[in-house]
Amino acid sequence: MKLSGRDWVGIIGVALLIGLLGLGVGKGRGKTIPLDDRHRSSYQALKEGRDRAHVELICTTCHNQSSQPLPKNHPPKEQCLVCHDLVRS
Ligand code: HEC
Ligand code: HEC
Repeated sequence: MKLSGRDWVGIIGVALLIGLLGLGVGKGRGKTIPLDDRHRSSYQALKEGRDRAHVELICTTCHNQSSQPLPKNHPPKEQCLVCHDLVRS
């Protein structure tokens, strides 16, 4: 099949749309969880098949009002893992 100018307009239009949607989804997500000593236990727990709810309890043992407070403008913070990705290894 030979692509005409019209086809290209359509293809580029769709590509732009997908790109914009991707940006929209990316917004409002936090940083990736660092893969360092402090966070290794969380990674480990997930790898061992613990469910998210359990792992998120681990997060809050450090990230709470007293020790590692979240930024003031932090969005509603149940389910850390929805917004903070793990480093893919
Ligand atoms: C043992 C304590 C501890 C646990 C458990 C922990 N964190 Fe952290 N976290 C820290 C500390 C301290 C920092 C800041 C220094 C650093 O990056 O290690 C931090 C930093 C972060 C950052 C910011 C990274 C950056 O680039 O600024 C994110 C996001 C984060 N943690 C998310 C999580 C999530 C989600 C969990 C649960 C899966 C979690 N943390 C569990 C102690 C912890
Ligand atoms: C609704 C999405 C969402 C959820 C759920 C969420 N976060 Fe965040 N988090 C963000 C966003 C967005 C930021 C950046 C906020 C800002 O710019 O101040 C952030 C920032 C952070 C930071 C500061 C790192 C930095 O410098 O950007 C830490 C630490 C953190 N979150 C930990 C957690 C923990 C722990 C949980 C679970 C208890 C959690 N987050 C749940 C979206 C989320």
